[in-house]
Amino acid sequence: MIWSRRSFSVGLGASLIPSGCRDSATEASSTSQQAPTLHERLHAEFVGAYPDEIEPTGRVHEVEIVAAPARVQIGGRALEVWAYNGQVPGPTLRIRLGDTLKVQFVNRLPSETTIHWHGVRVPNAMDGVPHVTQPPVRPGETFLYEFTPKDAGTYWFHPHVRGSEQVERGLHGVLIVEDAQPSPYTQDVMWVVDDWRLDETGQIDGRFNTRHDLAHDGRWGQLRTVNGRSDETLNVRPGERIRLRMLNCANGRTIVPHFGSLEPKILAVDGKYLRAPIPLERFEMAPGNRLDLDITFDRGVSELVSVLDDFYPPRAASIATIAIDGEAVEAPAFTPPAAAHVPVWSEGTAAPLHHDYRMNARAGGEHGIEWMFDNEPFAGHDQHQISSSLTRHQFHRIRFSNDSARLHPIHMHGMFFRLLARNGEPVDEPFFRDTVLVHGRETVDLGVVPTDVGKWMVHCHILEHAEAGMMTLVEVRDRGGARS
Ligand code: C2O
Ligand code: CU
Repeated sequence: MIWSRRSFSVGLGASLIPSGCRDSATEASSTSQQAPTLHERLHAEFVGAYPDEIEPTGRVHEVEIVAAPARVQIGGRALEVWAYNGQVPGPTLRIRLGDTLKVQFVNRLPSETTIHWHGVRVPNAMDGVPHVTQPPVRPGETFLYEFTPKDAGTYWFHPHVRGSEQVERGLHGVLIVEDAQPSPYTQDVMWVVDDWRLDETGQIDGRFNTRHDLAHDGRWGQLRTVNGRSDETLNVRPGERIRLRMLNCANGRTIVPHFGSLEPKILAVDGKYLRAPIPLERFEMAPGNRLDLDITFDRGVSELVSVLDDFYPPRAASIATIAIDGEAVEAPAFTPPAAAHVPVWSEGTAAPLHHDYRMNARAGGEHGIEWMFDNEPFAGHDQHQISSSLTRHQFHRIRFSNDSARLHPIHMHGMFFRLLARNGEPVDEPFFRDTVLVHGRETVDLGVVPTDVGKWMVHCHILEHAEAGMMTLVEVRDRGGARS
C-alpha cells in the first residue's frame, strides 16, 4: 500500500523521534492507545487519495521544445507570436502514467524564460521557477526537464518568466498523462481556450501590464479562440461518448462553459478525477483551470450545438461548435474512471488556520499598482522570501482572504488542495484542484497535504496580478525538519 511505502521514506530525522512519525491513523493506533488527534484523523482520511511516488514504466519520451518567435494563423489572421515548436497552441505531449518525460528545451526568444509544468507534481528542481528552482534559461541556452508524472490527467506548461507577456504571446502547451488502461471513449479531444488582445494593426497588443488591467481582472482580449481558431468545430457521430479536455490558458479571463442541451459530466478537475462524475452545472474555469468532461451523444438526430462562455450570462459568447452528424455508432457502456479516495474532510474547517493570506493592492511599484499577499508585493524570485512553511504528509488549512473587489484565481505549485469553505460556509467539492477562483471580498479555506518537499510558488493566475507582485513562496519540509 501507498502509505506503508511512504512511511519508509520518512527519513532518519523522524525515525529518531518515534512519536513524530505518527502520520496515519493506522500508525497512531498501533503505537498508542490514545484517540487520534484531529490532524491525525484528517491525514488518515487523505491516505490513498493519490500516491506519493509512482512506479516508472521505464518508457522514456524524449522531446525537443524550441521557444522562438513565429508567425501563425490565429482566428483566421496571421499573428506574430512566440511559440513552442512553431505552433500556437504549443504541442500537446501525450504520455502514459508511469512514463518519463525528457524535454530538451531550447530558448531562441529574445528574452529569458523557463518552462513550468502546471499541476504536475514534479521534483522541485523541475518546476521551472527562475532563481528558485533553476537559473532562467537565457537566449540561446538550453535546459533539460526530466520527470515522471505521478498523476494521470490534463496538465499544461508555460513560461514562468514575465508570464503576462510570454503566455499572452503564445507560449503554452498541453501535457496529457493518460491512464495506464486504454481510454474507453470514442474520442479524446483537447480544447485550449484562449483570448487575444489585438491592437489597431491587428497584431498582439504590445502594451502589457497596463494600469487598467492591473486595476481590474487582468488582460481580457477581444479575439476568442479554441485551439487557435475562432470557429473550432468538433465533429461527432450520434451515439458517441467522448472525453473532452478543456484548458483555460487566458491571462485574465474566466469562462463558464455551457453546452446547450447536452449534459456533460465532470470527470476531472485540474487533471484529477472526481470521487464520481457530477453534472456540469455552473463551473467557473479561471485562468489555469482544466476540466475533463464525459459527454454522451445519445440521440439520433443531426444537430449543431453552440458551446457558450456564460460567465456574464446576458452576454454569453459562442466559443466553439459541436456538430453531431453522420451514421450512428453503438454507444460504449462503461463505468467512467473516478478517484474513490477524495477526502470529505468534514472536520477540516475545525483545524487551526496554518496561514491566512490577505490579498490586496496599493499604488506604487513599476506598474503603478502593486498586488500583494499580506501587504507585501513579491520581492523578486532571487529573494527566496518564504511566507509559510508546510510539513510534508501533514494536513494544513490555508485561507485566502480577498480584501479587494477583484478576482484572484489562486494557484499553488507542487501540491493539490481541496476547497473546504467559501466565506466560512463548508463546501464539499468531490475533487482536488490546483487553482481556485477567489471572488471579490471572498475568503476560501483550503485543505492541503503536501507530498513533495521544496520551495513552491503560490500566486494569482491572473498573470498581470502575479507580475505586479501577487506571488509568494511556501516551503514544504520533511517532518524531521529536513529541507529540500
Ligand atoms: Cu500556471 Cu505558476 O503557474
Ligand atoms: Cu489576482
